[in-house]
Amino acid sequence: MKEKLLEIKKEALGQISSPDADLEQIRIKYLGKKGELTAVLRGMGALSAEERPVVGQLANEVRASIEEAIAARGAELREKELAEQLCREKIDVTMPGNAPKMGHIHPLTKVQRELENIFIGMGFSIVEGPEVEYDYYNFQALNIPPNHPARDTQDTFYITDNILLRSQTSPVQVRAMEKIKPPIRIISPGRVYRSDAMDATHSPLFHQLEGLVVDKGITMGDLKGMLETFAKSLFGDSTRLRFRPHHFPFTEPSAEVDVSCFVCGGKGCRLCKGEGWMEILGAGMVHPFVLSNCGIDPEVYSGFAFGLGIERITMTRYRIDDIRHLYDNDTRFLEQF
Ligand code: PHE
Repeated sequence: MKEKLLEIKKEALGQISSPDADLEQIRIKYLGKKGELTAVLRGMGALSAEERPVVGQLANEVRASIEEAIAARGAELREKELAEQLCREKIDVTMPGNAPKMGHIHPLTKVQRELENIFIGMGFSIVEGPEVEYDYYNFQALNIPPNHPARDTQDTFYITDNILLRSQTSPVQVRAMEKIKPPIRIISPGRVYRSDAMDATHSPLFHQLEGLVVDKGITMGDLKGMLETFAKSLFGDSTRLRFRPHHFPFTEPSAEVDVSCFVCGGKGCRLCKGEGWMEILGAGMVHPFVLSNCGIDPEVYSGFAFGLGIERITMTRYRIDDIRHLYDNDTRFLEQF
């Protein structure tokens, strides 16, 4: 029986130390109720009175050493597994990451912000107005009564007879003058709408930036000086301006304003189509009717206004030949800016 016990011990310890040991299985096999050690102990009744305590003690020792070995091996296996898991789950924080796709400022937004910054630097503040506008603000208050021919060139989308999508940012001038009293020095960038078919230079939706200055003693000289400062900051110090007489119903006198071509300096090149000049905005002295429509006395105050197309400036600046590129949202195009 002693030999049997020692054999069980040897066999059990051998199995416990094997690399793929299933410890629970081994415990059941040797120490369980129907296990081998238990079977040996059951047979102890047949032993003599002297042998029994000796074998009993040995059996206890065998059980203890198997239990110990199982516990020790269990701890060892758990530790090994933890080490493997830690190794598997290790994160190398120095590895290059998966860079997220970054968004990109749209060229129109970029130019709009640049324009805003130039004007803020000259003391203007930014005012916004509604895109869905009353006929009164978009036309009538700006000296464009019903049936005025200017309505043809600024045909827009009507919501009712009275309410429309604004065709220009000029209605913001009127809203501003109704609210704030001179001195006024504002710009108002925003979307405008016209019933134009889409082609390389037209879009039914585009962006303008309007400017308005009203105070005592404002003259055309102030307008020219301010626009010159503006054009030099936008297109470079050697930029010159050219004023061509024009007509806008809400300014008198009015002018269309050109800048000398920033590529050829005025000699004529492909960008300026041989002209040497590029038209960038419309401007003029606020019409006395418009001032009095807004409750400002034209005998006391005068002012100038100007309006420019943000698309046109952007296209000139970056030599974009088709306005549709600005709305297609093709990232291959947009990423160039
Ligand atoms: N609103 C005019 C247009 O859209 C531009 C402009 C604004 C002209 C202010 C003069 C003064 O054509």
